[in-house]
Amino acid sequence: MLDSAAPATSWPYKLHLRGQSFIGQTTLGAKQRYNRIQMPFPVHRKRRLRVSEPMRRLVRESHLDPAQFILPLFVCPGEGIRKPIGSMPGNFQLSIDELVKECEGAQALGIGGIILFGIPDVKDDAASGAYAEDGIVQRALRALKSAYPKLLLITDVCNCEYTSHGHCGKVIDQDVDNDSTLEWLAASSVSHARAGADIVAPSDMMDGRVAAIRAALDKNGFQKTAILAYAAKFASAFYGPFREAAESAPQFGDRRTYQMDPANGREAMHEMELDFEEGADMLMVKPAMPYLDLIRQAHDRFPVPIAAYQVSGEFSMLMAAVERGWLEYERAMIESLTSIHRAGAGIILTYFARDAARLLG
Ligand code: PBG
Repeated sequence: MLDSAAPATSWPYKLHLRGQSFIGQTTLGAKQRYNRIQMPFPVHRKRRLRVSEPMRRLVRESHLDPAQFILPLFVCPGEGIRKPIGSMPGNFQLSIDELVKECEGAQALGIGGIILFGIPDVKDDAASGAYAEDGIVQRALRALKSAYPKLLLITDVCNCEYTSHGHCGKVIDQDVDNDSTLEWLAASSVSHARAGADIVAPSDMMDGRVAAIRAALDKNGFQKTAILAYAAKFASAFYGPFREAAESAPQFGDRRTYQMDPANGREAMHEMELDFEEGADMLMVKPAMPYLDLIRQAHDRFPVPIAAYQVSGEFSMLMAAVERGWLEYERAMIESLTSIHRAGAGIILTYFARDAARLLG
């Protein structure tokens, strides 16, 4: 029953639930009892703007664009090689000829660019394949640059794929030595730039690497080569499938003396600030979905593009559920990418780049 004597500031409501209707009244008294929380219903009905797809599209706050996706690709020696990576369906180790074919499709889909990871012929203590002028990534860059002058080429700058022990730098006394590793990173970056990289992306987490790389690039005439710093990179369980793909698992210990503790958000901001001050043109948070809070903070704090890497484990986890029929592929993919973008990442490195671009296309 509606109470006609209720004050004008109260609202009648009629609710239909499971075949029954309920009639009631929200009153000012109720409002006050609820600690002056505003109860604007029924003036406000959020569902008005959800009534149809045209309406939802009109009010959508975040939009994904293929131009913001970076596709990670793995290049290996040989010819005609397209070796599937078991834990990452749809991803392969590709020889240079196959890589060139793969990039034709990527370019046609309008994705922002590719990031290259190399699997060298031989690994050694000095990571020499990382900075060799005729290293696997350097040769791949030359082939790609001449085939697709307009495709944005990014390289991951790190040593773990090239060292016999699988650590990201020079090992002294069972630990990665920071300052001598900087020389390898600087040399790799210059060799990548010389071979055609538009952007170098150091992922090693040594202190001072951005400054060292910037200085080396400039000294060699590569002032225009940009640096995308993996600024806040965590020692994450979600890199597991990548290490199979890049054959880069550490042979002893782990990466916790150089990659960040997943518990530390304020420290992540300091890492980003240091890379920013050393001259990083863009800053990355990695992994993405478990660190959305830090993507948001970085976006609000630094006046440079923010990237996020939806890493191998994030991809494999979704794919495994999709393969079991537990998740819908396209919806889960787009929702995961949307969350990363909404958090503040303008650039997303993702193994979904091709399929997401196709879907958005
Ligand atoms: C190299 C590097 C790694 C990834 C990107 N660059 C592996 C690692 O740090 O162990 C992981 C990417 C992914 O999981 O998709 N250091």
